[in-house]
Amino acid sequence: MPARVVAIDGPAGSGKSSTARAVADALDFAHLDSGALYRAFTLAAIDHDLPLDGERIAALAGALPVRLDRTPAGYRPEIAGVDVSEAVRSPAVTARVSAVAALPAVRRVVNAMVRAAAAEHPRGVVIEGRDIGTVVFADAGLKIFLTASPEERARRRLLQENRLQDAASVAREAETLEVRDHADANRPIAPLAQAPDAIPLDTTGMGFDEQVRRIVELARKLFP
Ligand code: CDP
Repeated sequence: MPARVVAIDGPAGSGKSSTARAVADALDFAHLDSGALYRAFTLAAIDHDLPLDGERIAALAGALPVRLDRTPAGYRPEIAGVDVSEAVRSPAVTARVSAVAALPAVRRVVNAMVRAAAAEHPRGVVIEGRDIGTVVFADAGLKIFLTASPEERARRRLLQENRLQDAASVAREAETLEVRDHADANRPIAPLAQAPDAIPLDTTGMGFDEQVRRIVELARKLFP
């Protein structure tokens, strides 16, 4: 039986990771963060001083290897057998990941890894990213497009990273997120976009438990 897939897409800092994790817990599904995999490819390329060359980065990822490790809670990115979930969140990776994710050879390999992980999972997977509902799992049973205002997303990101949330920091972080969203939404291949059949969820001013509850309710109806 094909895996049951909940696709959660949306811009940077829209709360995809925390939401997807909580939804997966509630459904007893696995959580898969496709962005973390793009970040792992980026980290490997930085560590090996590779230029922005998709074929070379994909070959390096195969050799190391970069892979998704299945744990009871879900999938986490590994490089040469080492868990890099924390390392991939570094500012150096964040600054370069959109350029690496725009390379077709990289997207081909990441998509294959995400699809293989979902296919092998016995229960179901909550997958977050930018193109899960439009490209990777265009036939996903449930698609959510998560958004929030730029200021709200900036505040959440600063909070997540234990940084000061004064007005100047919020404005600066909102600008950083906007640069990445613009790059992700305007690339020629698999741009960040809402699938026509995705359910939009604007979480500005919505409590975390509320947004999780809404998605879980929809999923339970579809996947009884
Ligand atoms: O967590 P955050 O919102 O900062 O971003 P992420 O989900 O870790 O994704 C990092 C980057 O990977 C994005 O800015 C995109 O460039 C890329 N990405 C993508 O192209 N396609 C996906 N399905 C997921 C991420």
